[in-house]
Amino acid sequence: MRVVDLIELKRDGKEIPAADIKAFVDAVVKKEVPEYQTAAFLMAVFFRGMLPDELVAYTQAMLYSGDTLSLKSLAGQYKVDKHSTGGVGDKVSLSLAPMVAACGPVIPMISGRGLGHTGGTLDKLEAIKGYRVDLSEDEIEKAIAKAGYVITGQTGSLVPADKIFYALRDVTGTVPSIELIAASIMSKKLSVGLNGLVLDVKVGSGAFMKTQERAVKLADTMISIGRAMGTDVRACITSMDQPLGVAVGNANELIEAIEMLKGNAPADYSHICYTLGTEMLAMAKRISNDDARQELEDAVKSGRALEQMRLNVAAQGGDPRVVDDYSLLTIAPHTVNVTAPRDGYLSAFNCEMVGKASCILGGGREVAGAPVDHSVGLEVLHKIGHKVIKGDSLFKVYYQDEKKCETACKMLLDSVTISEDAPKPNELVRDIRR
Ligand code: URA
Repeated sequence: MRVVDLIELKRDGKEIPAADIKAFVDAVVKKEVPEYQTAAFLMAVFFRGMLPDELVAYTQAMLYSGDTLSLKSLAGQYKVDKHSTGGVGDKVSLSLAPMVAACGPVIPMISGRGLGHTGGTLDKLEAIKGYRVDLSEDEIEKAIAKAGYVITGQTGSLVPADKIFYALRDVTGTVPSIELIAASIMSKKLSVGLNGLVLDVKVGSGAFMKTQERAVKLADTMISIGRAMGTDVRACITSMDQPLGVAVGNANELIEAIEMLKGNAPADYSHICYTLGTEMLAMAKRISNDDARQELEDAVKSGRALEQMRLNVAAQGGDPRVVDDYSLLTIAPHTVNVTAPRDGYLSAFNCEMVGKASCILGGGREVAGAPVDHSVGLEVLHKIGHKVIKGDSLFKVYYQDEKKCETACKMLLDSVTISEDAPKPNELVRDIRR
């Protein structure tokens, strides 16, 4: 089928046959399709969506557009992973992977860098000097053999179609399409041959999905893609109406993640780790959620999860002493507090603005590929529902550059709503879809 015919089919809301979707994706990767036609296809999908069979064909075509990891040495072992759709202060992967690995399943986690206002797991790990996130397949297998899990980036040849589509979506206003997001995430995650995947679909002011309805639709779409491709998928819909935990940044989030493994995490962060970990472990070991939760708690209490992290840091080139000695990390030397302008209840955050403030301090990127400053960041000192008095500190900011700090502080002040009446409690886990 000619590309123009395929675009017209989608424009008119008709189904594209699977073989034609595959031929199109292959041609895009071979650079045989001009970008204006690929962009037109993406816009047609944005408005018309995709039928379930089309979406599976599109995801499969993307998944097989480059290399896949066979991870032969892990054959016969249950490979499980978790993916978050992105949030602010979301350092869950850093502590969840060692917790679950300490209980048996292996975790080949392919993670990303910060995207927009959201932080990235790889950036947080790179706060550890020498920690490598560009491992080859052979290195991934060796690291898993040592530590039970690995957290690394997408190699050059994994899912090249997604890189091309993603870059075009970014500049054509087609990122927020549920079908395109679902195919993008699932093609990358399934390219390592997972048996099970738990999705953390974030919803709220700091998430890409702003409403519960869209979050549920995204979750169910990804579950059905996984099911069609023979992978167990469960999805937790969780709140991103306020930053998760206290720390937002890179090195400071890593410290909070290590503290989680020492049993010292803020309640909301701990709750998400145990909720997602329970689903992962119950799925991987075919045990009840109660038993899975108990195993995870034992792994943390006994120190096994923390030891798993030491092994991982060493296996990926970092100094494992960082787990016990935070002076091996660099934290920005200057601090300032942002204070409450009036008395009242902290009733809402513009959580996206909090994420952007961290980026402006230097913790995220303004242009693709730029370095991040791992030392800067902020602490969220009060959460939704807290009563504050004028002058109380709302945020503690760690900065290197005065001007950036000034801008970030203004944004942080604007990001909070203080009201006379107590707000409704912010429910953290909104739904679990299986
Ligand atoms: N994360 C991805 O990997 N892809 C998307 O399209 C959105 C978030």
